[in-house]
Amino acid sequence: PGMRLDIVSIFPEYFSPLDVSLIGKARERGTLDVRVHQLRDWTHDVHKTVDDTPYGGGPGMVMKPEVWGEAIDAIIADGRAAGSPAADSPITGSPITGSPATGSPITGSPITGSPATGSPITGSPITGSPATGSPFAGGPEASATPRIIVPTPSGRPFTQEIAQELAAEPWLLFACGRYEGIDSRVMREYGARMRVDELSIGDYVLAGGEVAVLVMVEAIGRLLPGVLGNVHSAVDDSFAPGAMRNLLEGPVYTKPPVWRGHEVPEVLLSGHHGKIARWRRDEALRRTVANRPELAAAIDPETLDKHDRKL
Ligand code: ADE
Repeated sequence: PGMRLDIVSIFPEYFSPLDVSLIGKARERGTLDVRVHQLRDWTHDVHKTVDDTPYGGGPGMVMKPEVWGEAIDAIIADGRAAGSPAADSPITGSPITGSPATGSPITGSPITGSPATGSPITGSPITGSPATGSPFAGGPEASATPRIIVPTPSGRPFTQEIAQELAAEPWLLFACGRYEGIDSRVMREYGARMRVDELSIGDYVLAGGEVAVLVMVEAIGRLLPGVLGNVHSAVDDSFAPGAMRNLLEGPVYTKPPVWRGHEVPEVLLSGHHGKIARWRRDEALRRTVANRPELAAAIDPETLDKHDRKL
């Protein structure tokens, strides 16, 4: 059973990177079912208006609640239908997907608007084989709700811990705001019925949530079983749980042993695994103190040995 990811944005083209690399492969294999939706498809006016001026005055524009409500309701209904064996997933060409005449904006993504780009997803077995059925037929149940993620610089920090938590969910819906943000009643409305998290990827302001969602989807996607080529790669990441938890990773080297006069640290060529582990830990500590003093200060002294304390 794969994870279903719905992404709603007024710039679906931002998400074409999800066609390639780890995430693209996971989509082809059926580990990830990513659907990108154009928010404007749920507007009803000729101008496809998604924003309006803020109550109380001030600069910028606020995204209107009605259009978000219609979009999220439709996607939830679609996800529930996709999970029931009777209904066809849009990805296999359901009535919803294939009928622009009905006016349903649930288009047959993969990635809205990208068939011309030669996306490997578009022509994949997943897309083109109604006969085999959706690999996600066991996905969201009729009563299921997604976890809704709203990227915003005002949110809680997105961390590796949250990435791990989200990687365990069957269904995520990312709602990308532009302008000054989404009318807060949208978060209130859905927050009463399902988990809604406003998350920030860092202390800087992007033009919209799209790039933040790409960051989060990559961080989450690489944790899914079978997405990462080497299952061990995620284990000793900076911030991953384990012995080196809360330490930054130290420097790494490969061949040749000398490059432009720069040598690889001798210990790494020694074959002495104990000394190598000690050296790596020292380097990790040094780097953490230098680059992230606040992380270094938060290290539990109980986890430091005699050698660590000398550094
Ligand atoms: N939207 C704009 N800036 C953002 C940030 N730093 N994190 C998440 N979403 C954002």
